[in-house]
This record gives sequence, structure tokens and C-alpha cells, in this order.
Amino acid sequence: MLSRVDFLVMGAGVAGLRAAIELARHGDVLVVTKESLSESNTHYAQGGIAVAMEGDQDVALHLEDTVNAGDGIVYRPAAEALVAEGPIRVAELIEWGAQFDTEGGELLRTREGAHSLPRILHAHGDATGAEISRSLVAFARAHKRIRFAEWTMVTGLVGADGRVIGADLTRANLFSADALHPEPKTRRISTRSVLIAAGGAGQVYSDTTNPGVATGDGIALAASAGAPTDRSSSVGWRAGVELADMEFYQFHPTALSLPGAPRFLISEALRGEGAYLRNDKGERFMERYHTLLELAPRDVVARAIAREGIGDEPGETRLVHLDMRHVTGIDLHKRFPGVSAFLARHGLDLARDLIPVRPAAHYLMGGIRTDLAGRTSLPGLYAAGEAACTGVHGANRLASNSLLEGLVFGARAAQSMLADDLQMISGGDPAAKCTPLSRGEAKFVEEQIAGLQQAMWSYAGLLRDEFTLREGFSVHIACVTGLAELAEKGKGSRRLSEAQALTRISHAILYSAIHRTESRGAHFRNDYPKRDDENFRKHSVLKSNGQIVFEKW
Ligand code: SIN
Repeated sequence: MLSRVDFLVMGAGVAGLRAAIELARHGDVLVVTKESLSESNTHYAQGGIAVAMEGDQDVALHLEDTVNAGDGIVYRPAAEALVAEGPIRVAELIEWGAQFDTEGGELLRTREGAHSLPRILHAHGDATGAEISRSLVAFARAHKRIRFAEWTMVTGLVGADGRVIGADLTRANLFSADALHPEPKTRRISTRSVLIAAGGAGQVYSDTTNPGVATGDGIALAASAGAPTDRSSSVGWRAGVELADMEFYQFHPTALSLPGAPRFLISEALRGEGAYLRNDKGERFMERYHTLLELAPRDVVARAIAREGIGDEPGETRLVHLDMRHVTGIDLHKRFPGVSAFLARHGLDLARDLIPVRPAAHYLMGGIRTDLAGRTSLPGLYAAGEAACTGVHGANRLASNSLLEGLVFGARAAQSMLADDLQMISGGDPAAKCTPLSRGEAKFVEEQIAGLQQAMWSYAGLLRDEFTLREGFSVHIACVTGLAELAEKGKGSRRLSEAQALTRISHAILYSAIHRTESRGAHFRNDYPKRDDENFRKHSVLKSNGQIVFEKW
């Protein structure tokens, strides 16, 4: 069994895989993922990948769109790197086998919200993420120096001499909530450096487009490794990694809204191809909210739908629909095969029916604070993709910039891991042992997760204020207390570990949101509805000592 590897990558989405391919040019790489290789936010991305393939002018426009969507706090050097290196990374990806949709040999491009022109490449209609994931996995699998550990969790970071020197890995299917499973086996791997590319945390909300694996494990691990109460981490040292911009959670405007059905993503590309939004009176309402109508920035559209969905009586909701019935000239089922097939399972047809939609948590703009080369505030620990925060998205990510971010910053992080050339040191404290949960304890963990998700949706969702955020804190604290009792008893399970991660993420969101007393991008405060550039044209940074500061980058 492997006990040493040059580089450990946590996460097998676009950022992790792209980094692994780069790292494998100079060392052995282990890619660790909690479920199978295909279970990532990347895999489920539908609409496409935004990229400016037509030269300098095109790149400059992509930069402006990215900066404008970010509502005043995009870190410009990060956005410059994204749009300038994006075309190189996409060309490379095509060379490695990714098949984007073409017509007459030309790449097809669509438009999405807040883009000034069509620049979104797509694959198999609405399966862009799956195609990118397929091509990267195939390319990485063919590489002798890359190994994969599927169904495995990174349950601790090992530290010594003020840096990360390894990680504890636990088989996720044994690390089960079920008392009948054997005690989880943890092994320690020494490594020169660790990259966290484990994606976002949509599961912190009850309504999300993200798959079940998106529980923010990587962010929580980096933020809390070594905290004395956390039995699943190595004890005796603190990672001290900073998080940034955690109040900015993007809510995708159009997730399917059918009782009993999951919040399936109805891609923004449908609006790019002409779909209208209609309220329960059948009116196109976006003209009251933004001149770009249905293609306004995502945060504006999401809030507009939320507002149109509020009924006259407390708790009453009104339906909002996406309407493609007027769209002619394209075969909707061919252009959107994945969406069409999912809708068909629920008796709906894009060409015939109004599609009920409402917002759902989709993408975390914040995350582990890194420089432009993926370095965190802790030597030996790097981050890229949705788990990281370079400031590239500011307060609101431009549609379809996330797959590009994974490619560009995954490659960059790997390059700095190679350049930093840290040497392998073995050792660190022994891994904490834990015992499986009883059935009652496992049920308790599920209840805690569900309560937290519901509270985050109700109190820290699209529209927040001081009162709701404080309510969110009360639920968070009760949840932390309950889970801490299990951890103190030496209990461990995958779901307990995920629950602990979700509490850390929710704390970071609530704490950052309560301190940002303004509205900007995806963060809207009913009690502070205006943007306050004088005080808050800044990024929030959560320090390892628990302090929050607002910094200009
Ligand atoms: C979508 O297809 O609407 C999602 C694209 C994105 O998250 O940018």
C-alpha cells in the first residue's frame, strides 16, 4: 500500500485533474476522490465553458464582462490570468480529446447572462462538464505517474515544521454511517505537497444544484485542520489557512421547481437560446429588474425570481416559469438532450410546456484564500478551482467561467507546487482513531445536517438580514454542540465528517455575511440594500484566529 507520493491532489474535478496532469510531468501523483471519478460539480456542469478564442479584443471583452459581473471586487490580475490563459488551456484540452460541439468544422458558441457576446463552448448540447471530465480522466488514466484513490476521503492534514507534510486517507465506503460496517481504516501518506481541489459546498443549503458530494470537505479541512475538538484531523497543530469571500454564494436562477423532484439545473444556456421568464400572471417580468432582461447577471435574475415568487400571504409562494415555446429554428431536444430527458421523466417538454423554476445554491465564489499560483497561507498546502478564492469572481461569478477557472488555476497551482520544490519529510502525529456510529447516532447526524441545510436556506439564502443571520447562528451552534459530543466520544463516519465540514462552512458564510453590512453581487441584505463602496469594496478574509477583516486586493 502506498505510503509516500510526491503530490497528493484532493478532488477529481476539472481543477484537480488538470493539476494532476501537470504534476505528473515531474513526480508521482495520487488523486483522491470521495466517490467515483465522475461524481463532481464539474461532471454536472451543463451550459458550457466561457473562453475568448478570437484574439486580444475578444480577451479584453471577456475580462470586462468578468469584472462587471463581479460587482466591484473582482481581483483584476486574477481575471486577467483567467481570460488570457483560458484559450491556451482550452486548445490544449481539445488536443487531449475533449469534443466540443461544432458546425462545419467551427466551434459552436452560445451566450449566457452578462456576456456581451456568444463565447460559451458546449459539448453534447448540455453535457459540457461530463465531456471535460471524460477527456481529462481518460488523459490522466493513460499517464503512468497518476494513480487514483476513489471512494476515499482525506480525513486529516499532517503537519510538521510549520508546513503540510502529508495527509490521512480513509476509505469512504467503510467510513460509513452504518454501525454494521467495520471500523474505518486510516492510512497516512507522506507527500511533498497537497492540493485541495475538492470543489464547493452547495450541500450546506437544502436547495442546491450540486451533487451530494459537494459538502465543502476541502475548505473545512484546510480551515480547521488540527483544531483540538476535531477528531478527524491530526491533532497538535493548526493549519491557519485563511478563507475569503465566504458570504458570496451564487444562487442559480433556474433550478427545476417540482414537488418531490431534485433541484435539477435548467441551464442558463436555455435563456442564451431565447427562453423567457414568466411570473404566475404569465408576464415577462425581467424588464422591471434589468435592461439585459433574462440575460442579466445571475444574481439579479435569481433575486428577481425570488421576489416574483413571494405571494401576498406569509409563506405563500407563486410559480415562476421558464418559457421556450416561442423559440423556433433550433431543435430543443437535440440542443438540450440532458435537460429534455430529465424533464420528460417528470412529464414536461421544453417545446410544449412552461417549466417551473426557482433559484438554488450553485457555486461558492469564496473559499480557501490563495495567491494567483494556488498558494495558501500554509506552506505545502495549495488550492484551486471552486474550493479556492483568488478573487477572480468577485461577488458574483460570470456564467460558465468556472470550468475555465478550474483549467487555468489548476495548471497554475501545479506549476507553483513544482516550482516550490518542497522536500518529503515523514512523520507527524499519529492519526486519531475513531469508532463507527450506532444507528441512532447516524440518524441524529442526518437530522443535524437536514436542520442546518434548512436553516441556511431560510436564514442565509438569497435575501438576508441581521435577524435571519442570527437565527442561522442559533441553529449552527446547536448543530456544532450535538456533533462535538459524538466526536468527543471518538465516533467517526463519512456523514459525521461531512456534517462537521458543513458546520464549518455555514459558520464562515454566516459570520462573513453578518459583517458585510451592504448588498453586493450574490450577497443581498434586506437591512442594507445598497452597495457601500467606501467601506466594502473589499474582500472579506477570515483569519485563522477567528477574526474577520476586509481587505482591498
Ligand atoms: C448553467 O449551465 O447554467 C451553469 C453554468 C455555470 O454554472 O456557469
